[in-house]
Amino acid sequence: MAASSFTRMRIGLLGTGNVARALAHRWRAAGHDVLLGSRHPEERKDIGLPVAGLGETAAHADVLVNATPGNVSVELLRSIGAQALDGMLLIDVGVGLTDDYTELSHPNSSLAEHIQEAFPRTRVVKTLCTMDSTAMIAPDDLEGPSTVFLSGDDAGAKRTTGRLLTDLGWAPSAQLDIGGIVTARGQEHFALLFMGIAGGLGAHTFNIKVVTRPAVA
Ligand SMILES: NC(=O)c1ccc[n+]([C@@H]2O[C@H](COP(=O)([O-])OP(=O)(O)OC[C@H]3O[C@@H](n4cnc5c(N)ncnc54)[C@H](OP(=O)(O)O)[C@@H]3O)[C@@H](O)[C@H]2O)c1
Repeated sequence: MAASSFTRMRIGLLGTGNVARALAHRWRAAGHDVLLGSRHPEERKDIGLPVAGLGETAAHADVLVNATPGNVSVELLRSIGAQALDGMLLIDVGVGLTDDYTELSHPNSSLAEHIQEAFPRTRVVKTLCTMDSTAMIAPDDLEGPSTVFLSGDDAGAKRTTGRLLTDLGWAPSAQLDIGGIVTARGQEHFALLFMGIAGGLGAHTFNIKVVTRPAVA
């Protein structure tokens, strides 16, 4: 029998909302050790997942996932402290939007770039923010294969993120590395088109697929 390439990771998810819970359930089902980080862990005991404070979650993790509102994420990470994030892979799923979801909080940049700038020794990878939390963890439930994007400056961090995406159900062929952390702004700014498509469809669970011309023989 071939040896499994699976590596069990300690995944700390910052936030206890839709995205953090969905990802935590799916990664736990895949065999990873998950812990959700909350500002109020004592009030989140009934969510059916392990919850701790933010600092404790960061200290426990091999990999951190930012699943907090994008307009507060940098301050929240600052409250954890740069030392705890030193060298850490931080997968950023957040998007900064105004309360009515019509405008971006980082219009000429991105949350991911702001995080990378604030924590230069943290290995930030942006992914998954171009779809809703249902699609993030069940790509096979959509009609046909679709695309998930990765942005980040650290190749090793993107490889590890790619393996964790595979554990969510994203085949390597569905994963598109679009470049350095500066390209995260494209993923985040897609939120505006996402809202338009959701309005047109009357549904939030959908995704896009990058298609090209067939190669000429
Ligand atoms: N929902 C989606 O389908 C989706 C899709 C793509 C991207 N995103 C992005 O992913 C991130 C998380 O989305 P979500 O839908 O999971 O959000 P959510 O349900 O509102 O959960 C956000 C969590 O962040 C924590 N948090 C920390 N500081 C906060 C603050 N000042 N105000 C409110 N919550 C705070 C809260 O946990 P505690 O109260 O326990 O601390 C809260 O449960 C956002 O940046 C969002 O734009 C979401």
